[in-house]
Amino acid sequence: MENYRLTAPRYEMMKYRRCGKSGLLLSEIALGFWQNFGADADYEECRKIVEYAFDHGVTYFDLANNYGPPCGAAEEMFGRIWHGSLESHRDEIIIASKAGHHMWPGPYGEWGSRKNLIASVDQSLRRMKLDYVDIFYSHRPDPVTPLEETMQALVDIVRSGKALYAGISKYPVDMAEKAYAYLRAHDVPALVYQGRYNLIDRGVENGVLEQAAAEGAGFVAFSPLHQGLLTGKYLNGIPADARMRKGDSLKLEILTEELLSDLRKWHEEALAEGISDVQYALRWILRRPEVTSVIVGARNLEQFKSSLSAL
Ligand SMILES: NC(=O)c1ccc[n+]([C@@H]2O[C@H](COP(=O)([O-])OP(=O)(O)OC[C@H]3O[C@@H](n4cnc5c(N)ncnc54)[C@H](OP(=O)(O)O)[C@@H]3O)[C@@H](O)[C@H]2O)c1
Repeated sequence: MENYRLTAPRYEMMKYRRCGKSGLLLSEIALGFWQNFGADADYEECRKIVEYAFDHGVTYFDLANNYGPPCGAAEEMFGRIWHGSLESHRDEIIIASKAGHHMWPGPYGEWGSRKNLIASVDQSLRRMKLDYVDIFYSHRPDPVTPLEETMQALVDIVRSGKALYAGISKYPVDMAEKAYAYLRAHDVPALVYQGRYNLIDRGVENGVLEQAAAEGAGFVAFSPLHQGLLTGKYLNGIPADARMRKGDSLKLEILTEELLSDLRKWHEEALAEGISDVQYALRWILRRPEVTSVIVGARNLEQFKSSLSAL
């Protein structure tokens, strides 16, 4: 298949923020591959989203070993799209993967052992048919494995050239402090912390954001629309095709009267500003100077366009 060609002045259409005190800039909007790029997703729609994103200045694509469904399928989908169209732009794009959540059966298929991380990065590279990823994350803290073992695995993955930078995700402040210190002492300073941050879930305001900034790491926000709740579409019932209908990662129980009243309030505020709910939600996150990028999910191109319009 012919390689994708530059068709837009992409770098004028996007803003870039420095990731902590590193040399790396990330696009303010990044594209995530968690739930919409699995084996049952439509290849052509996925390809359109990825190419549209790149064509509009998105340089950060966020993956993980377990994204699908089933686990691994999103990396395979990304690899197919990548080699079909974007491959020649490798040096313009940041590709991230992660290990830590359940991925394969048995005692080594999840958490933070050296065995899991090293095997996982090799698997991810094979699925995406890449020589290296730009960022490799420890996807979640492991309460049992010594933190030093997990961090040393990240250091060795970077040293081996399989990743250019290391990141951590969802670590509580006390564990993050040790992780930052270990990585810095081994000359692989943490590039970035990835955490959930949106109007509904502000947990990272309890120290995580400030800590990342003080440690010289960037912060990237995941689930910025709280999996779709902040798009306005849940205000009058649950749409038939919405994520909450799958009952998997977004549970019905969360939609309490109290939350609905907050959603209505933010909706009114967005209306008063003459912007959409999506724009309101994403701009609210990007107002924080610690935030480098927000990783949006999109089930189709229209959804992705609505997120991009927040800029
Ligand atoms: N580090 C971690 O542990 C972690 C955890 C979660 C996610 N992440 C990363 O963050 C990325 C984004 O997470 P997310 O998918 O939860 O992000 P999100 O942007 O909060 O939610 C995306 C979902 O919202 C709905 N949506 C988006 N735009 C819409 C629009 N204009 N109108 C109506 N509905 C719309 C769609 O769901 P429906 O249409 O299906 O309802 C879409 O799939 C992931 O892909 C992943 O890369 C990381």
